[in-house]
Amino acid sequence: MSHQLLKGKRGIIFGALNTESIAWKVAERAHEEGATFTLTNTAVALRMGDTAKLAEKFNTIAIEADATNVQDLENLVVKSMDHLGGKIDFVLHSIGMSPNVRKGRHYSDLDYNMLEKTLDISAVSFHKVLQVARKLDAINEWGSVVALSYVAAQRTFYGYNDMADAKALLESIARSFGYIYGRERRVRINTISQSPTITTAGSGVKGFDRLLDFADRMSPLGNASGDECADYCITLFSDLTKKVTMQNLFHDGGFSSMGMSLKALTQYEKGLGCDCECGDAHDPEDHRYD
Ligand SMILES: NC(=O)c1ccc[n+]([C@@H]2O[C@H](COP(=O)([O-])OP(=O)(O)OC[C@H]3O[C@@H](n4cnc5c(N)ncnc54)[C@H](O)[C@@H]3O)[C@@H](O)[C@H]2O)c1
Repeated sequence: MSHQLLKGKRGIIFGALNTESIAWKVAERAHEEGATFTLTNTAVALRMGDTAKLAEKFNTIAIEADATNVQDLENLVVKSMDHLGGKIDFVLHSIGMSPNVRKGRHYSDLDYNMLEKTLDISAVSFHKVLQVARKLDAINEWGSVVALSYVAAQRTFYGYNDMADAKALLESIARSFGYIYGRERRVRINTISQSPTITTAGSGVKGFDRLLDFADRMSPLGNASGDECADYCITLFSDLTKKVTMQNLFHDGGFSSMGMSLKALTQYEKGLGCDCECGDAHDPEDHRYD
């Protein structure tokens, strides 16, 4: 249902790769709410993914940009303002990638070149987007910038690897830049810490299915879906949340405040007595990684 919450607003949406992507769902909701926007992704993603199809659906353009490359970002921001006919009101940073996760490197045996890439793509790129936008004075007063995060920034989650460090940095950038951009130009900057969600990036995390199930059993409201995440993003882009800034906002059905739920406990009890070598309730294959 549309409330035209973003009527007349212009945005840039990073990270819509395919219909599963959270950014894809945000683009659909932003369109419903009356916004116009450009889409952006890497050259490879534009070639292999469906970003261009989405752009066509919403009569907009998909602009190639590697979010770690400042020149690409400058080009993106200038082209977006040109195409949309004015300054930007909202930006979604929906980008995450860890070569260490992809290559199955253990957290105690990281490849440091890969770690640099993880941090650059998944966190420092957020700083680059903000710095470029500020230098070009591209965001209107009361504009809103949102990046997507995960609770592994605060707590340890098996298998999340160096992405946990990237998310901690991402959330810190939201606070540090939020102070500067808010003070000077009333631009607000937040991160949304989303439930595990089935997407291309999400499914790369080891044991993701079980993590998803566990989070769902632990959360009194159940996991938040990608569509629900999009709804939450829309509220943050709207004028209804003008004084919310520098926050990491949990959108996880209550997961982050839980210790143990009845549902999770019941499932855990069922799993006890599993006959793998060490007597614990887990996949024997996991011995290789703990
Ligand atoms: N899926 C989950 O369980 C989950 C949970 C919490 C937070 N998040 C976060 O949500 C965000 C979106 O991920 P998603 O789950 O929708 O997966 P996704 O794979 O659909 O999106 C990730 C996007 O990042 C883009 N990307 C990668 N490297 C890039 C670069 N150098 N420059 C520009 N774009 C680049 C990819 O092309 C892709 O479009 C990520 O930040 C992710 O960490 C996901």
